[in-house]
Amino acid sequence: MRREILIIGGGIIGLAIAIELKSQGAAVTILCRDFAEGATHAAAGMLAPEAEEIPPSPMLDFCLASRALYPEWIQKLEALTGMNAGYWDCGILAPRYQVSEGSQWLDRAALLTHQSELGEDVVGGYWFAKDAQVDNRALAKVLWMAATALGVEIRTEINIERFAFDTNIHALETNQGRWKADHYILATGAWSQELLPIPVFPRKGQMLSVQVPDAVNLPLRQVLFGEAYIVPRQDGRIIVGATSENVGFQVGNTAIGIHTLLSNAIRLYPPIQHFALQEIWSGFRPATPDELPILGESPYENLTLATGHYRNGILLAPVTGSAIAQYVLTQKADPQLEAFHYSRFS
Ligand code: GLY
Repeated sequence: MRREILIIGGGIIGLAIAIELKSQGAAVTILCRDFAEGATHAAAGMLAPEAEEIPPSPMLDFCLASRALYPEWIQKLEALTGMNAGYWDCGILAPRYQVSEGSQWLDRAALLTHQSELGEDVVGGYWFAKDAQVDNRALAKVLWMAATALGVEIRTEINIERFAFDTNIHALETNQGRWKADHYILATGAWSQELLPIPVFPRKGQMLSVQVPDAVNLPLRQVLFGEAYIVPRQDGRIIVGATSENVGFQVGNTAIGIHTLLSNAIRLYPPIQHFALQEIWSGFRPATPDELPILGESPYENLTLATGHYRNGILLAPVTGSAIAQYVLTQKADPQLEAFHYSRFS
């Protein structure tokens, strides 16, 4: 029997799951409040399990698995849509102001062969050749188009008011009536507590972008990851991020937020000071107490969780999409998902 599945949330995680489920024959509808409000739109798009220094753990394995899936995943999506998602296996350089060690450590001279014009306080740094980036806003559009092309129904401006449930979810009460399905997936990121008492809360990040004067001869050709991160796009934009603030859903940018980002970025890579300021924005990472996502089973048999990706939602989209789709379709426990079970908080 074909299963009817409702996904709550139209960010990168909801879309990745929808595409996987639809490709395997399920009937999928996404209910989305506001496509541009989520962390997907606000992120920088780094695919950075090494630069983020995630310690050896099931989380690191999950992140590395997802980074490995990226090239083929993007290729499929681009073939389906004819659009470019801005994937770039550019590597990430992590400059440091204090000498350190390790197999990936480079001294200042070696670092400067990777990237010229680094700040004078930089004494060396790490080179993570396999870390990469994707243009998260372009990818969101590609995913949306791919989902639509495959026949996923996407409904926007839907406010979910509550679940109607006893031991199971019976329906979703929304501003546009009741929605029913065989199975439900919660992928609402930082807003997950509006529907379920799970510990996902917003961690605000302020961001900005500048534009290089000559987009043909790009001065930066890899991500720089230090006190700020500096993410050059192939079209000449450079994304600078990010603050990390526990201020609830307080929207907008502050003078100190932008000041901190700019001074950290200029110290790391002084040429930034001359580039044209293009945009400032902010967003809300879906954080959890242990900074790990909440994936798989929920207290309700027909509700699956896919939320709390914190700093790694863009990175974890391909592996979350395939693992959650498999779990929903087979209802078989996946060892990959064990470390991310909601019950660890009870
Ligand atoms: N992934 C980087 C950040 O969340 O700021």
